[in-house]
Amino acid sequence: MSQISTFPSFSWTDQEPFKNIFNNHKAPQMQILKYMGNKRRLLNWLMTSFNEELKDGDTFLDLFAGTSSVGYALKPKVKVIANDIQKYSSVISSALLQFNGIITEDDFDKDLAKFYKKNLSRLTEIFGAAVQAEQKLLISDNIKDYKQFCLEVPKYGEPVSRDKFKLNSYSREISIQKRRELRTKFPYILFSTYYPNTFFGLRQCLEIDSIRFAIDQVKDEHKKAVYLSCLMYSISKAVNSSGHFAEYLNHHSNYASRLIVEQRKISVLSEFLFKLAEFTKLFTQNKWKNEVYNCDYQILIDKLHRNKKLNKVDLIYIDPPYTSAQYSRFYHIPETLVKYDYPTITKDHSNYKLVKGRYRDDRHQSKFSNSGSVEDAFRELFGAISSKSNATLAISYSDNSILRPVERLIEIAKEYYETIETKNGYSHSAQGSRFSVNGKGNKDLHEYLLICKPKS
Ligand SMILES: C[S@@+](CC[C@H](N)C(=O)[O-])C[C@H]1O[C@@H](n2cnc3c(N)ncnc32)[C@H](O)[C@@H]1O
Repeated sequence: MSQISTFPSFSWTDQEPFKNIFNNHKAPQMQILKYMGNKRRLLNWLMTSFNEELKDGDTFLDLFAGTSSVGYALKPKVKVIANDIQKYSSVISSALLQFNGIITEDDFDKDLAKFYKKNLSRLTEIFGAAVQAEQKLLISDNIKDYKQFCLEVPKYGEPVSRDKFKLNSYSREISIQKRRELRTKFPYILFSTYYPNTFFGLRQCLEIDSIRFAIDQVKDEHKKAVYLSCLMYSISKAVNSSGHFAEYLNHHSNYASRLIVEQRKISVLSEFLFKLAEFTKLFTQNKWKNEVYNCDYQILIDKLHRNKKLNKVDLIYIDPPYTSAQYSRFYHIPETLVKYDYPTITKDHSNYKLVKGRYRDDRHQSKFSNSGSVEDAFRELFGAISSKSNATLAISYSDNSILRPVERLIEIAKEYYETIETKNGYSHSAQGSRFSVNGKGNKDLHEYLLICKPKS
């Protein structure tokens, strides 16, 4: 029988520490990206419910894993299979769920430093004069000249007329095309040609390309995933925006320019090393082998069904996109960072220029993020899963979703599942979100966990 319960609001700080509510398992946490809709702050509440559904050593399938906050919290207790359509997500999942070695603070020196320096010194030969000019201006806080400098550095699709630093040739279509054909060609130069003075400063781009080159020299795929996750973290700290990559801040006022200058002073390498130090405390275990996939959830369900792994799954968790924001737009730069494929960039049809946000042409558009297709998307999802698996299905959903109210989602789920139980509508204030009015945060949001039991 389905039931909707409303619960009084309470703050996250009221919650018990993980170890008290999650039996003897201490749920680990590690944040790589500031991620829309991530469940990091809801983990205590979710773990209480998952604990009722899962025994030690069971198998948990996270079909829309994102930053794998949920899978990582469950890592001490169950085998985790994580999936997401975005490549960067599978890299984060691999780092958090599959890497079981030891990270030490001198790993950078052992694995990466030599290659980092090699790429950086080649890029400095190319971009040295421009980087020197940039550093001088950032230190002097000379906003007027810094704004002028930003117009003097070319980027892919935007050559400059007086090529003061002799850089136009590196970002021409013909040079980029050659890189596309051989993406590992030395030196790594993607960020330095695609993003200078947009999302990042020029020196920051050189640092990113050089760390990325060094990471590609690492043989162990899971360790590589750890390093890539550290680099994702550091670009999210350095980016000239509020932590995502949908848009960057323009020099539209002196105040904005000052913010930009402060961001540009951030050292990508220092942030990388900071995260790497956190990885020395990564929770590792060898009791079972976690699995990570990077595909559409339907493809994975079919694959696990065909190879008879689906019937070994005890709990399937779905946390699909629930607003109109497309993940592929908000996180296109982490995607490009991990693919490092010199992507073609979407053009503005009105002027044939590359769009300001420099989005990848091949980005995935989710049906869950479109109000016209979201109901169909859920029907397809329930149909695909319930026809192939008898596992319990747990759904995270929130009342700021494009499919509203949650009763509508429950009605659809009931077409496929025997019972739907609504777990404690978890409530918190919308302060700072687009639901706050005048920034005062006067709307309560409810988070739901629907537990769907299959028809017999
Ligand atoms: C709400 S987020 C998941 C957040 C995650 N639980 C966390 O804590 O970070 C939704 C995720 O669904 C992924 N996604 C969207 N459409 C997908 C599809 N068809 N198949 C697999 N993943 C998809 C997005 O890339 C995004 O990472």
